[in-house]
Amino acid sequence: MATAGKIAAVGVIGAGQMGSGIAQLAAAAGCAVLLLDSDPAALSRAVASISASLRRLVAKGQLYQAACEDSIKRIRCVSRVQELGDVDLVIEAIVEVEDVKKKLFVELDGITKPSAILASNTSSISITRLASATKRPSQVIGMHFFNPPPIMKLIEIIRGADTSEDVFSAVKSFSERIGKTVICSQDYPGFIVNRILMPMINEAFWALYTGVATKEDIDTGMKLGTNHPMGPLQLADFIGLDVCLSVLRVLHNGLGDNKYSPCPLLVQYVDAGRLGKKRGVGVYSYG
Ligand code: CAA
Ligand code: NAD
Repeated sequence: MATAGKIAAVGVIGAGQMGSGIAQLAAAAGCAVLLLDSDPAALSRAVASISASLRRLVAKGQLYQAACEDSIKRIRCVSRVQELGDVDLVIEAIVEVEDVKKKLFVELDGITKPSAILASNTSSISITRLASATKRPSQVIGMHFFNPPPIMKLIEIIRGADTSEDVFSAVKSFSERIGKTVICSQDYPGFIVNRILMPMINEAFWALYTGVATKEDIDTGMKLGTNHPMGPLQLADFIGLDVCLSVLRVLHNGLGDNKYSPCPLLVQYVDAGRLGKKRGVGVYSYG
């Protein structure tokens, strides 16, 4: 079984907003990183954003130039899951769709070495259900990073019903090794943070939908009135409206309370492909 000290090679699947930041963190901690995405363009974007992010740290005097170059060299982009056979830890950060994640976990279970830990960066989906798709449920765990991963200090760890204590300890130590504070959640829909955050974002959509105020005033209200770094609509665009909608649906289905029912305006934006900052348009437009 991998322990934190022995986690030398990490596979990151999904090279989007989260996967690229997670790969950066693992590489900066000295791990060999294999970064995989089904979309080659996403891999190119990820390499560019990791380089830019590390160079910002160099410019601020928080990282030596040589360490920046070494981190970049430790990341190798790959195109097939089969190339992850030797990694100690896989961190999955693909789309927030249960069936797609389960299919990937089945594949990973078949090709990774028996001691490998399979972690999901899911925002809301049951770790127990993802684990049940594999023959190694004791080695499956939730490792929930926050956006942007290089900056946000938190990792929420979620044990599935069968996650072993060894795996929990290894992932906790690894999280601390990459500089994060850990909190633990039971395997409930949305865990801790999104259970509380997403209803606020949804309420901001309802406020906009029902004409309470303009988007700018809703965001300014929450920024200046409650000292949030971003207003909730701006934050929704930053997270991705598709992610917000998926999480709300998991909360609604899993907890069965209408208060989690997604606002029709959020649904309409996602249907229209207005997924937020990553697509250049969401609640706001981005030049
Ligand atoms: N890599 C390296 N550095 C970065 C970075 C990145 N990817 N992104 C931002 N930074 C650095 C900047 O260089 C800057 O550093 P200095 O202050 O030392 O100059 C600092 O972070 C602030 O960045 P900016 O000045 O560009 O912008 P900002 O002041 O608006 O801060 C922010 C950006 C950190 C994202 C801030 O707006 C913020 O904290 N927003 C809220 C983010 C949040 O709530 N995230 C969680 C979302 S929920 C989630 O993730 C869970 C889920 O499942 C959906
Ligand atoms: P994203 O849309 O930026 O990136 C997802 C990437 O996964 C894309 O590049 C896509 O091509 C790739 N992908 C999709 N299916 C794949 C597959 N089967 N195999 C390989 N690659 C595949 O999404 P994101 O915002 O990075 O979110 C990824 C995961 O992280 C989701 O589970 C999300 O809920 C979670 N998460 C997101 C945030 C956030 O703020 N965006 C925060 C914490 C956790």
